[in-house]
Amino acid sequence: MSAPNNYTVVVAGMGKRGNHHADAFHKNRRFELVGLCDIDRERLEAAATKFGVSETGADAAQLVKKTRPDIFCFCTLPGLRLPLIRAGVEAGVKLIAYEKPTALSTNEALEIMSLVRKAGVKTVVSHQHRYGEHYRKVKEIIARGAIGRVHTVYGTATGWMMHMMTHLIDYTRWFNDYAEAEWVVGQAHGKSKLTDNHPSPDYVGGLIQFSNGVRGIVESGDGAPDVPEVEYWWRKCRMGAQGTEGFAEVLTGGGWRAVTRDGLLSGPGGMDYEHDMGPYVQEMADWLDDDSKIHPCHGESAFKDLEIMMAICRSAVQRGKIKLPLGPGEPELEALAKALPD
Ligand SMILES: NC(=O)c1ccc[n+]([C@@H]2O[C@H](COP(=O)([O-])OP(=O)(O)OC[C@H]3O[C@@H](n4cnc5c(N)ncnc54)[C@H](O)[C@@H]3O)[C@@H](O)[C@H]2O)c1
Repeated sequence: MSAPNNYTVVVAGMGKRGNHHADAFHKNRRFELVGLCDIDRERLEAAATKFGVSETGADAAQLVKKTRPDIFCFCTLPGLRLPLIRAGVEAGVKLIAYEKPTALSTNEALEIMSLVRKAGVKTVVSHQHRYGEHYRKVKEIIARGAIGRVHTVYGTATGWMMHMMTHLIDYTRWFNDYAEAEWVVGQAHGKSKLTDNHPSPDYVGGLIQFSNGVRGIVESGDGAPDVPEVEYWWRKCRMGAQGTEGFAEVLTGGGWRAVTRDGLLSGPGGMDYEHDMGPYVQEMADWLDDDSKIHPCHGESAFKDLEIMMAICRSAVQRGKIKLPLGPGEPELEALAKALPD
């Protein structure tokens, strides 16, 4: 049998998440880091030294054009997505891995999807918390029917929308076997976070109707239920499913718990980048090796997460039920800025 291909990688945005990604690629023999990019010179030099990469630059488009990697990974703040997707597509990369949220509007997300679909470029978006053992345990309990027929999935986070909500939606869709969302009703309040680097209404909540009859309930931001068992804001996420015979839920920073046919169950677990990033990047190599091994965090699924989140925003603006799929429209954050009271 021939040896599997190894894949070359360029990482752009060497902040917290860029370093996590570069570290995971660096530790896996299936990947070779061939370029690093950041506009912050100090960060770039520190990362280049740490990972032993000589090809560096402040212009991601130029760097990918020059190095022609198999994988272009970028971990910039949410305001920078479409131009870097375009840079990867134009350089002919095979896979673009990037950070959530997919985009800041439905329009941007639709343009991203159109570019990558046309070019046949695979995309992967970092909803990697799912690799946590506590997340997997909850999925396993739900999947083996231990809580009966699932009728409700839910996710809450005290962190604000552009930070947390696509995580909530992605994992609750997983718990619901990725049934399609048919419509949503949503509400939002507060404008103080609209100018944040993860621009969001201060609070947003939504009800989702899935095609299998399951109801989704998601809430994010200031006013969403606290998870007092857990310290630190972005670990205060609670996601789970209720069924006819019990419930099972995961706390991002505080293990899992369930009431099932077999009684009361619980276990430990806490979101851990070191644990989650290894399999997350490995499954990129698996997908590049074999088209049938689609990455669980693939971009088409992440697009559906974003679409649901944006439909909730549209509902808050339009005061009614929003059917999916979404077409282009007024950018949701701009519409919220006009619609929400001062
Ligand atoms: N999946 C997760 O668990 C998780 C966790 C935290 C953050 N995130 C997401 O990761 C993304 C990045 O967050 P972070 O905390 O790493 O941010 P960060 O601010 O630490 O890093 C961003 C880096 O991008 C660089 N940058 C900005 N413009 C650039 C450009 N044009 N070209 C190259 N580099 C550029 C900045 O200089 C900075 O070093 C965000 O979208 C955030 O929501 C995801």
